[in-house]
Amino acid sequence: MPAARLGRMKVLGFESSCDETGVALVETRPGGVPRLLAEALHSQVDMHAAYGGVVPELASRDHIRRVLPLTRQVLQQAGCALAEVDVVAYTRGPGLAGALLVGAGVAVSLAAALGKPALGVHHLEGHLLSPFLATEAEGGAPEFPFVALLVSGGHTQLMQVDGVGRYTLLGETIDDAAGEAFDKSAKLLGLGYPGGPALARLAERGRPTAFALPRPLLHSPDLDFSFAGLKTAVMTQHRKLGSQPGAGELADLAASAQAAIVDVLVAKSIKALKATHSRRLVVAGGVGANLRLRETLNAGAARLGARVFYPPLALCTDNGAMIALAAALRLQHGLAELQHDGAFDVRPRWPLAELCGESGVTV
Ligand code: KG4
Ligand code: ZN
Repeated sequence: MPAARLGRMKVLGFESSCDETGVALVETRPGGVPRLLAEALHSQVDMHAAYGGVVPELASRDHIRRVLPLTRQVLQQAGCALAEVDVVAYTRGPGLAGALLVGAGVAVSLAAALGKPALGVHHLEGHLLSPFLATEAEGGAPEFPFVALLVSGGHTQLMQVDGVGRYTLLGETIDDAAGEAFDKSAKLLGLGYPGGPALARLAERGRPTAFALPRPLLHSPDLDFSFAGLKTAVMTQHRKLGSQPGAGELADLAASAQAAIVDVLVAKSIKALKATHSRRLVVAGGVGANLRLRETLNAGAARLGARVFYPPLALCTDNGAMIALAAALRLQHGLAELQHDGAFDVRPRWPLAELCGESGVTV
């Protein structure tokens, strides 16, 4: 981590891009990685579960209900007065427009009331940098450069990360994201929402080789992914099981679907490590919580003499800490476009590519 340009600054961060309201306070440290002082999270998962997916209008309304109590909780936990906050950061995008507007509106209004600047952060940059929140006991933080595998409900990308704000896209999904593949397969098997963790739990009792499912683009010469075909294959196999499949058969299908997703993610990550001659892989985003993915990646990387870094398990899915952290790191590196005028916008569709250079890697 390059030497910081700033002294100690307290950054309050808000995440509200989808179905988690996250608030966190981090403090920059001269010459070091910013420190997490406190964080609080409210997940709306139970509320949306009844509908089988996120209902945007309900998400926005719940963010409004939760955001100020969570903010009070964070400040109290950190023993920090609101007036001591130096910068207020928020997720500017990508995500659900209404949900983003809640976090952005609160953050920018708070900043204006305090006479402090606000800072909009890219949600995926938050995920990308989240392994810097890992303490030594949690495996420690990586050093630059590294390859990052971003695997969330909306994104699947491999990035070359040379420093804060220095990202090169190596490859990405051409259709569904890995998290979507988990969620859609889970839905087909009649599991609840969100499907990823439910499918992973069921898979523990199944045989990963029971069903031969496709591994799309496994041997393609690029670093791209494709998961749409897998969903169809899971649907076909599920139909073949008839109207009353046995518990063992469902567990086998869950384990086989998980294995297919994991195999492709691991193969492409290893390929990216080889192509970039990198010895460090960072995994971020909700699917990074998947234990089979972790085990398989760790083993594959170890064979190359490479190491895999993860955010703390609780910070794999959406949270405010990664947003406050990304803002703090941008500030430290002189890359923050601070807003002083109380105006703001959100970017529901905001390709991370806009923060990236051209891919210079040949695979
Ligand atoms: O990063 P995230 O919280 O939200 C987005 O920005 O999308 O990722 C959520 C995704 C969902 O698709 C969820 O099913 C998946 O991460 N997920 C998992 C696990 N935990 C969360 N997928 C597989 N195994 C898990 N243990
Ligand atoms: Zn996310």
